[in-house]
Amino acid sequence: MEFSVKSGTPEKQRSSCLVAGVFEGRKLSQPAQTLDKASDGYLSSLLRRGDLEGKLGQYLLLHDVPHVLADRVLLIGCGKERTLNDQQYRQIIQKSTKILAETGAMEATSYLTDLPLKQRQSDWKVKQAVEATLDALYQFTALKSKKDPVKRVLKRIIWNISSRRDLNACELAVTQGRAVGNNVEWAKNLANLPANICTPDYLAEQAEALAAQYSSVSVSVLGQKQMEEMGMGAFLAVAQGSSRAAKLIVAHYHGGANNQEPIALVGKGITFDSGGLSLKPAANMMSMKYDMCGAASVLATLKVAAELKLPLNVISLMACAENMPSGNASRPDDVVKSLSGLTIEIANTDAEGRLVLCDTLTYCERFNPCVVIDVATLTGSCVVALGQHASGLLSNHSPLANDLLVAGEYSGDRAWQMPLWDDYQSQLDSPVADICNVGGPEAGVITAACFLSRFTKKYNWAHLDVAGSAFRTGKDARATGRPVPLLSQYLINVCNKQKS
Ligand code: BES
Ligand code: MN
Ligand code: ZN
Repeated sequence: MEFSVKSGTPEKQRSSCLVAGVFEGRKLSQPAQTLDKASDGYLSSLLRRGDLEGKLGQYLLLHDVPHVLADRVLLIGCGKERTLNDQQYRQIIQKSTKILAETGAMEATSYLTDLPLKQRQSDWKVKQAVEATLDALYQFTALKSKKDPVKRVLKRIIWNISSRRDLNACELAVTQGRAVGNNVEWAKNLANLPANICTPDYLAEQAEALAAQYSSVSVSVLGQKQMEEMGMGAFLAVAQGSSRAAKLIVAHYHGGANNQEPIALVGKGITFDSGGLSLKPAANMMSMKYDMCGAASVLATLKVAAELKLPLNVISLMACAENMPSGNASRPDDVVKSLSGLTIEIANTDAEGRLVLCDTLTYCERFNPCVVIDVATLTGSCVVALGQHASGLLSNHSPLANDLLVAGEYSGDRAWQMPLWDDYQSQLDSPVADICNVGGPEAGVITAACFLSRFTKKYNWAHLDVAGSAFRTGKDARATGRPVPLLSQYLINVCNKQKS
């Protein structure tokens, strides 16, 4: 899909399809009014017949509108003009994309990027439009033997903006939106692959392929032997029930000065979470191939940084293992020694994410990171608390937490902060070891973060629990690619701050 930006009046565009908004109460948006005038009131006469109320989700596809050079005009219902918000804007874009893809139009010129949104500038609207469009067109076809069953003709969308002065900023927005959108797609593809294909080995190969593709990226993969020698007893305890070896994949993106402290991104990469001997019930095990979404998202974000040549250093660490029951698996009550030296009582083998993460978080100290952000489908409790819309955010450093909240709001990939108070820490007391890997039924999303916080004292750290946001369950189960938009925006914002 190609995207570009332009500033021009709608009736003069030689396009296969123009797209313009209509608000509730049959109120034409500005570009639609211009088309109406050019066509001597053709649009308003149709609306008067009652063919389009302007509600969100409605549309009307017109051909050969008089005195308009484009072949088609697609009118899209936008809901109430005064209360139009970010989420509705994205829905409107996605609806228009899906309809466009069903027409025979090869390209379209969309005036939806002209919609009035409070506090959002043209470049925001363009970046969101590109990302929302790629998201709407995504299909997971890698495992279908008949490729591309529906042939799509739509090749190009030109986003129109009202002011020429914004063109430069909007061209950058296209570049950034495309990088984010494409890598969201890349993360989705990795996550949608089943666990018999997407193994720790497979993920290591993907990272290595990235290093081959970008000279700014280098990758090293730690195998079980090296992890053993280092003393990653917690990480290895998770992998020992599986016939597939654990991998700690470390990808470096070098875009900043040599002495610039890196941003470390740590991802949970459990390629399948059966629960281990604390076996999950069948229904809960269904979507556990997605338990590596965190790892996919940190690698995809590193790829965004490489594609955009961001002037900073990023290290993405993927803690990859498969959590399986077997004669060799860890048992409930086992005690293991973590890389940090802390001993851990494994009260429940299904609380495995924190075990692979804690050793990886200790390991990343050696890179002297300015901040560390981990991403994990860590707890069912987070899904209960926040549902699918927000990622859970917990942090030991409020400026970092704030930066992530801001990046989430801007990108539309939102997080919601929860307390990391000391009050919760005692839920992790263990009678036999330094710490227990579960904290009881209350506030599981917080006690999971409390567990990680024991291993992140030496740096500024934030934790994103994406158990609800990274994938959808049920009949239409699929990965969402989150939090790649949030993390990418965070990196872009860091660069912008650096500049000023
Ligand atoms: N991968 C799961 C968390 C999860 C559950 C993600 C549902 C997405 C949807 C994690 O490893 C897990 O099993 N967590 C347990 C922790 C408990 C044993 C303390 C949970 O949340 O039930
Ligand atoms: Mn688990
Ligand atoms: Zn898990």
